Amino acid sequence: MAGEVAALVFDAYGTLFDVHSVARRAQMLFPGKGDALSAAWRTKQLEYSWLRTLMGAYEDFDRVTRAALEWSLESLGLDAGEAAQRALIDEYRKLATFAEVPAALERLARSRPLAILSNGHPEMLEAVVDHNGLRDRFRGGILSVHAARRFKPEPSVYRIAEEALGVPRAMVGFVSSNGWDAAGAKAFGFRAYWVNRARAPVERLGVRPDAVLESLAGLEPALA
Ligand code: 2OP
Repeated sequence: MAGEVAALVFDAYGTLFDVHSVARRAQMLFPGKGDALSAAWRTKQLEYSWLRTLMGAYEDFDRVTRAALEWSLESLGLDAGEAAQRALIDEYRKLATFAEVPAALERLARSRPLAILSNGHPEMLEAVVDHNGLRDRFRGGILSVHAARRFKPEPSVYRIAEEALGVPRAMVGFVSSNGWDAAGAKAFGFRAYWVNRARAPVERLGVRPDAVLESLAGLEPALA
């Protein structure tokens, strides 16, 4: 692969942090419905991020996440008081990383700046990064689409990372487990590394990732 990757940019939710660790809290609150609620919530959260961008009606990811939770609870006929909803929302600030993430980031950070670029509101992102003690890994910055008032995969959000890193987009490696996010990054001009954690088919969006990995552990060899 011609040229080098001078910096790496990581998606947060689903890539570094396991959003379905929310399912355990949901299961405690609603036995037997935890997985259904967690899945419906994540799907609706992303749908709202795409729809609000298309509508030109940006609201930050914390508000979008809360709205998606309300919709999902009603859709499943679950009655959650304010305390239960707050407990679920708070989980987003306490998400666990996937098992291989800390060691992989530690190695990758030795040879190039790392950054996060996420739909998350800055406050949400800093909370979950600090919860996992990972702030020092990201000397390229913890970047939120909030600055663009649009969500992924709208091209202007990827430009936030290109400008923050001061690296031409062709030399930026973008890492995401969300196939549609990897496609958006590739269409923008980044090198796209898709961490296919869900073993999903590749998205038919006119572009293909530069590499498909099973986990972050496969990234360093793919960059060699
Ligand atoms: C993120 O931007 C797409 O939710 C995912 O972190």
